[in-house]
Amino acid sequence: MILVNENFLKLKAGYLFPEIGRRVRVFAAENPDAPIIKLGIGDVTEPLVPAVTKAMHTAVDEMAKKETFHGYDDGGVGYEFLREAIVQNDFKSRGANVASDEIFISDGAKCDTGNMQEIFGLDNVVAVTDPVYPVYVDTNVMAGRTGENDGKGRYGKMVYMPCTAENNFVPELPSQPVDMIYLCYPNNPTGAVATKEQLKKWVDYAVENKAIILYDAAYEAFIRDDSIPHSIYEIEGARKVAIEFRSFSKTAGFTGVRCGFTVVPKDLVAYTKSGQAQPLHPIWNRRHCTKFNGVSYITQKGAEAVYSPEGKKQVKEVINLYMSNADTMRAALTEQGYQVFGGEHAPYIWLKTPKGVDSWTFFDLLLNKANVVGTPGAGFGAAGEGYFRLSAFNNPDKVKEAMQRISKI
Ligand code: MLT
Repeated sequence: MILVNENFLKLKAGYLFPEIGRRVRVFAAENPDAPIIKLGIGDVTEPLVPAVTKAMHTAVDEMAKKETFHGYDDGGVGYEFLREAIVQNDFKSRGANVASDEIFISDGAKCDTGNMQEIFGLDNVVAVTDPVYPVYVDTNVMAGRTGENDGKGRYGKMVYMPCTAENNFVPELPSQPVDMIYLCYPNNPTGAVATKEQLKKWVDYAVENKAIILYDAAYEAFIRDDSIPHSIYEIEGARKVAIEFRSFSKTAGFTGVRCGFTVVPKDLVAYTKSGQAQPLHPIWNRRHCTKFNGVSYITQKGAEAVYSPEGKKQVKEVINLYMSNADTMRAALTEQGYQVFGGEHAPYIWLKTPKGVDSWTFFDLLLNKANVVGTPGAGFGAAGEGYFRLSAFNNPDKVKEAMQRISKI
């Protein structure tokens, strides 16, 4: 008899964003003329910048000639031209020490943050912030690391670190020992950022407790204050305890292209049950090369162009457009009396729902009365109840229109 992986049965029925998509489709079918504005899933709306498409066109032409054709990339870890551009521009420029062979190019941070847990033992205690990007939780549930669902969306063996307005959405250190710590800054969904001092506390905790930090920096390009760290490797000691995930999706509009990367420093170790230290770089390398065959040459050439002088300028303009949307939203919603967080160094606005209105009710209200789609805070965890996320990824006119419509509710 074929047995199912029963861990999958512990998951909530649907992943958050498809569930929102389903509800919006039902609404649109019943109200075909409703002019829906989508500020839900963080999907970009601006096209790829010219520097990127030019590089991709050139790469297509190279693929069409025998002399310049490319098959598999070497081991699937990424071409050196891209890994070196990343080292110089993302890390060296900020004083962070990362070598090109510590970078693994992939098809995006969602897959990497989901897959990375495979290299860790099932007995590890996982700590997540609450609210949280659901991928960190769900992939650990699938692996069997979390225990049972308590029926309210929490899992028995997981440690939840509430992030609320009271702690500026940066969690306290856990009071019980934990082994795998997922942190995401700038944060999805709250839009909060962590200072160097706050991250240093986490790095010190991980060093003292022989824990690992899984640091998702997918939104670092939206930071507007230079004193805020873009990478955990700007923090002393982090190379010994942290893995970092990056993405071209939001930075350079690659949600439909697919490219990201993960940094696994060679200093990083995890332990066998008998206490023997095992370097993680060769283990992730083994996993990556076994299960992944690399990102296309054309895509990697497009990603490399993000770091060219014209690419940097063009990408910055697009980020500024989204962040000016965030400014519009913060100002309008504050004026309308909402308590608003985030949106200063992140493309997400996190607002408190009106008193007595839970986050799914607010979702329905916005969809029905304003034809605006957002994301209910409860979809990101129990502590997200009473909050609502709006994404700044849209056209500025549509964002202004959405704010006007919300003001009339
Ligand atoms: C989000 O809306 O939270 C993101 O788009 C999800 C993702 O990047 O996978």
